[in-house]
Amino acid sequence: LRAHIVLDRQAVIAPVRRRTFGSFVEHLGRCVYTGIYEPEHPSANEDGFRMDVVELVRELGSTTIRYPGGNFVSGFRWEDSVGPREQRPVRRDLAWHSLESNQVGLDEFAKWLALTGSELMLAVNVATRGILPALDLLEYANHPSGTALSDLRIANGTPAPHNVRMWCLGNEMDGPWQTGFMTADDYGKVAARTAAAMKMADKDLELVVCGSSGSGMPTFGDWERTVLEHAYDHVDYVSCHAYYQEHDGDLASFLASAVDMDYFIDTVVATADHVGHKKRSKKKIDISFDEWNVWYLKEHQESGEVNEEWRHAPRQLEDVYSVADAVVVGNLLMTLLKRSDRVTSASLAQLVNVIAPIMTEPGGPAWRQTTFFPFSITSRLAAGEVIRPTIEAPASSTDRHGEASVVDAVATFDEDRSAVFLVNRDLTQEAQVTIDVRGFGASRVMEAVTLADSDVYAKNTLADQRRVIPRANPSAALSDGVLTIILPPVSWTAVALG
Ligand code: AHR
Repeated sequence: LRAHIVLDRQAVIAPVRRRTFGSFVEHLGRCVYTGIYEPEHPSANEDGFRMDVVELVRELGSTTIRYPGGNFVSGFRWEDSVGPREQRPVRRDLAWHSLESNQVGLDEFAKWLALTGSELMLAVNVATRGILPALDLLEYANHPSGTALSDLRIANGTPAPHNVRMWCLGNEMDGPWQTGFMTADDYGKVAARTAAAMKMADKDLELVVCGSSGSGMPTFGDWERTVLEHAYDHVDYVSCHAYYQEHDGDLASFLASAVDMDYFIDTVVATADHVGHKKRSKKKIDISFDEWNVWYLKEHQESGEVNEEWRHAPRQLEDVYSVADAVVVGNLLMTLLKRSDRVTSASLAQLVNVIAPIMTEPGGPAWRQTTFFPFSITSRLAAGEVIRPTIEAPASSTDRHGEASVVDAVATFDEDRSAVFLVNRDLTQEAQVTIDVRGFGASRVMEAVTLADSDVYAKNTLADQRRVIPRANPSAALSDGVLTIILPPVSWTAVALG
C-alpha cells in the first residue's frame, strides 16, 4: 500500500506544548510504594526514592505530573500526608480498597519532582471535602511564609513554596464509581465556588474542571455543557479522560482508537465554545486531557485484584503492554499534538507500575514497557510548531470507529530540526510512504526509528526486559525534498530531519 503526505511549513496548528507530555502519579497499587518510593531498594536515595526509576522518568521526558489521584483524591485528606512521618495516620482508601500509609505526601513528592525535572499538577478533593480544605492546601503549598499553614510547611522542612500553577477540581465527578460523585448541576456549582475562592487567593492559578470520564459516558456532552455553564468564568481547562483496549480480537478497531480521541476532542471543544458563546465570553476554555492510555480495564475488573482485603500497595492494574498497544499510544500522542490548538495539557495515565510505561520489581529492576518508546521519542523530538499534514492514503472501515486512514501522521517544525511521526495501522501490509518536505528546508535524515515486530503482541517482561525496542529504519531517505520511508504493518515511526 502507498501513501503520500505533504508537509506545508505554513500549515501551523499551534506551538508544541510541553505540557502535552505530562503524566500521572496516583496513590494506587504500586505506583508510589515500590514504584517511585522504596527506601530499602539498592538504588534508593536518602529520601527513599528509587533512582533507577528517576533515570527512566527523565528519559521518558514527562513534563507535568498530575498527583495524587485519580479516584484516590476523592477520599483524601491532604493534612494526613504532611509533617513527621511517624505521626501520619494509616487510612483506608475506598477507591482502590487498600491501605494508605501516607509516608509519601506533597512535600516528599515535590522533592521527587525536583529529581525528575517535572512540574506538579495538584488535585484537590471536592467530592467529599469542601472549599476550606482546598484553600488550606493552596496556602500550605503556595504561600511563601508568615501564615499558619505556610509556616507549618516551613516547620515541616520545606522552606520554599511549591508554587503549583495547575490544579484539578476533583476527579471524574461524573462517574458513579467516584466516592461522592455528583450530578453535573451539583458539581458545576461546587466547582465554580471552589474555583472562585481559589482565584481570590491567586488569580493566576490555572484551574481544571472535570469533564467526562470518557466519550461513552451517558452524560457526555451534557455534562460539559452544564458544568461549564456554572464554572466557565472561573476555570481555564476542562478535562478529558480516555482509555482504549482491544475488544474481542478486533485489532483493526483498536488500532483506530485515535479516531475516537479526535471525535472526543472535537465534541468537547464545540461544547465549551457553545457555552462561551452563550455567555458572550471572550475567553476560551482549553482541554487538559489528563488521563489517556491503553488500559485492559475489563480484564482487571474480572480478575478480582481489587478485592475486599485491605492491603498496602497491592499489585493492581499492572498491564503489560504489547507492540500493538505501543502503536496505539504513539498514535494517541500524535492526535494530542494535532489538537495542540486546544489541548494544551495532557497526562499519560499513569507513570509507574499502574497502567504505566515504567515497571519495577520490589528490590529488583526497573524497565521500559513497549509504550515507553513512542512517548519518550516524541517528547524528545517534537519542538517548535505542530504542522498539519495533508495525507493521501487508503482508508479502512472499522467496526468501532468507522473509516480510518491506514496511515496517520503529524509533524513538528523548528528552525534547526523538524520531525515526522507516523503510524501504519494496516494489519498485514507495509506502507510505502513519500513525504513532501520541501517547505522544511531539511538536508538530511538525522534519525529514523520504528517500533514494530513480527509478533504484534510481543511484550517486555521482568524475564525479558528488552524483547521490544525501537530500531533504526534503514529505508528512510531524503532526496530533492522528498522523504521516502517504508512502514511495516502495525508500526509506529519517528523521523528527525535536520
Ligand atoms: O488511572 C486509573 C483511574 O482511572 C483513575 O484513578 C481514575 O481517575 C480513572 O477512572
